[in-house]
Amino acid sequence: MRIDIITVLPELLKSPFEASILKRAIEAGLVEVYFHNLRDYTTDNYKTVDDYQFGGGAGMVMMVEPIDKCITKLKSEREYEEVIYMTPDGETLTQGIANQLSLKENIIILCGHYKGVDQRVRDHFITREISIGDYVLSGGELGAAVLCDAVIRLIPGVLGNETSALTDSFQDNLLAPPIYTRPRNYKGWRVPEVLFSGNFPEIEKWREEKAYEHTKKRRPDLLND
Ligand code: ADE
Repeated sequence: MRIDIITVLPELLKSPFEASILKRAIEAGLVEVYFHNLRDYTTDNYKTVDDYQFGGGAGMVMMVEPIDKCITKLKSEREYEEVIYMTPDGETLTQGIANQLSLKENIIILCGHYKGVDQRVRDHFITREISIGDYVLSGGELGAAVLCDAVIRLIPGVLGNETSALTDSFQDNLLAPPIYTRPRNYKGWRVPEVLFSGNFPEIEKWREEKAYEHTKKRRPDLLND
């Protein structure tokens, strides 16, 4: 998979890709991530990427031309299945969306800034608009980092144990059950006996019950989907 991220603040975005699982995925060649600084696609001395809103109103708007130049250049080099715009009014990111995107070959992610982008960018280039939650960030970069993390960990081979993404919370619309490790008894706080039974169908049943109880208590909305 290849991800091209278009941003005015590449430095805000880079560090999550330089540590831990994302770094290993890139080093193993399982994913390629490229950052494109929008200012490199400007034509004036000031490297202007934003301008005042037509019709008046507070806040600057990201201009269509540098974004067009950047996306058009990328598209001339390969085909992209999605051109995603990170914006608080997009569809809310879910595990299902992350699953879908993890199957793509090439995607572009455009990070919004200021008030957002000129509507013509959305009308002519964007195929999907994603929000990471009902709150407003100062730019799309942190949202793009969240999206990339959720997607990249699902690419086969990225996680050590292949089954581990399948048992995450949300993969089956349930939250994950409780988990334990050594010691078996800590200050009298005991690990549930069933986990030592060696009876794997029994353990699986216990986990399913706990996952259901936990979901019912904390996120009953998931059980209605
Ligand atoms: N940009 C600003 N707020 C955002 C959000 N909640 N999700 C994605 N991109 C954003």
